[in-house]
Amino acid sequence: MVTKIRVKSKLLIVFLLFCGIVNGQNNESSYEERMEWFKDAKLGVFIHWGYYGVNGIGESWSMYHKKISYEDYMMQGKQFTAEHYKPKEWARLFKKIGARYAILTTKHHDGVALWDTKLSKLNVIEKTPAKRDLVAPFVEALRQENLKVGLYYSLCDWSHPDYNVVFPRPNTQKNYPQKGQKELSEWQRFVRFYKGQIKELNDDFYPDLYWFDGDWEKSSEQWRAQSLKDSLLAWNPKTIVNSRLKTHGDYSTPEQGIPVVRPKGPWEFCMTMNDNWGYYPSDTNYKPISQIIRTFVEVIASGGNLLLNIGPKPDGTIAPEQMERLEALGDWIKKHERAVFETKAGLPYGHFYGPTLLNKDETKIYLCLFDAPKNYISLKGIQNKVKSIRVVGSNQELSFVRNGGAAWNNIPGILRIEIPESRYLDDNVTVLEIELEDALKLYRGHGNAVELN
Ligand code: GLC
Repeated sequence: MVTKIRVKSKLLIVFLLFCGIVNGQNNESSYEERMEWFKDAKLGVFIHWGYYGVNGIGESWSMYHKKISYEDYMMQGKQFTAEHYKPKEWARLFKKIGARYAILTTKHHDGVALWDTKLSKLNVIEKTPAKRDLVAPFVEALRQENLKVGLYYSLCDWSHPDYNVVFPRPNTQKNYPQKGQKELSEWQRFVRFYKGQIKELNDDFYPDLYWFDGDWEKSSEQWRAQSLKDSLLAWNPKTIVNSRLKTHGDYSTPEQGIPVVRPKGPWEFCMTMNDNWGYYPSDTNYKPISQIIRTFVEVIASGGNLLLNIGPKPDGTIAPEQMERLEALGDWIKKHERAVFETKAGLPYGHFYGPTLLNKDETKIYLCLFDAPKNYISLKGIQNKVKSIRVVGSNQELSFVRNGGAAWNNIPGILRIEIPESRYLDDNVTVLEIELEDALKLYRGHGNAVELN
């Protein structure tokens, strides 16, 4: 009897362990493991490359907003040459500027696939002079540079005949040769189609990250979102999924407007350099380099990653305005490397008027100065003794004094720091490194009467 129970309980343990492995993706530790590289990535490059760059119009949306007919939109494909596409150079550039990952639009809402999909003829191999898979060499080049591979895929598809759209569209059935699906409803056919395309992306490229989009057009149940997430993790247990799979994503994706309040959990802020995602030469409203660098600093100081967008031309080259911005951000990152990559989100609000970062063991605080300081720089509420204060990227050491407070009552005074010599101020954002004697101890009190003097 006793042995029978033992055997049964052993079987139960084996069974539970087995479930743990199979469902490993759902438990916290495997989530943490999957997210590890992402949390430290800091910078990714977003690439919106598609037909829309030919006329220089809004990506896919120009059809939706009836600014161009479906037929004319698709005609752009005839001039999508990819003739100077050099993914190895892209990858080297991304690596050089300090990006840890890049994400390419494999299919935008327009339905045009940049890889050799077997599920639709609406792909760059069949429809454009590029005549080749453009995703494959991109993935290979990123991997050669040890960068993580992200693939953007829009769930909504404004070309598929089983997907209803709000603008006039001719019959597109000839681009979708699937046979023998008469017994399925339109939506069932569409689900089978898009899951099939995602399976292709998995099998061909095994991406480190899926960047879905367009989920707002249907419900979680319609997308079969939970089952898709389960499949993705079963096929590729280490992959990461952005938030646009209804509630099933791994991290959040605020877009264009930088968060004012620190988002909870891992996050990534995606932003265009001008006002459009794709190549749009008449849009010259580029953000100044200083704004891009400040944004990057604000994002990492709040624990996020910046996913900075470029929109390559149809021939595969990157416009000089975009190159210049990538390079400038890269130069700033190089100079401030240790404040960027060895850090996490900084101090809570109230200690310093500006973004801050902390190194992993919290023995260093980085203060980021957007403007040239006046008189002195102050930092409040630090209980620790300070070892030294330096300007990152220079050898200048700054003097400091502690002013006020009531140390015997554990109320620290203000740290008053000498301002750097003007030649050591960075043109964009100056960073000061404050080395503490031990791990950060903050004073977060409201202040109180000092009873003993
Ligand atoms: C929005 C737009 C889409 C763009 C994406 C990038 O979802 O609809 O066109 O690709 O943002 O974040």
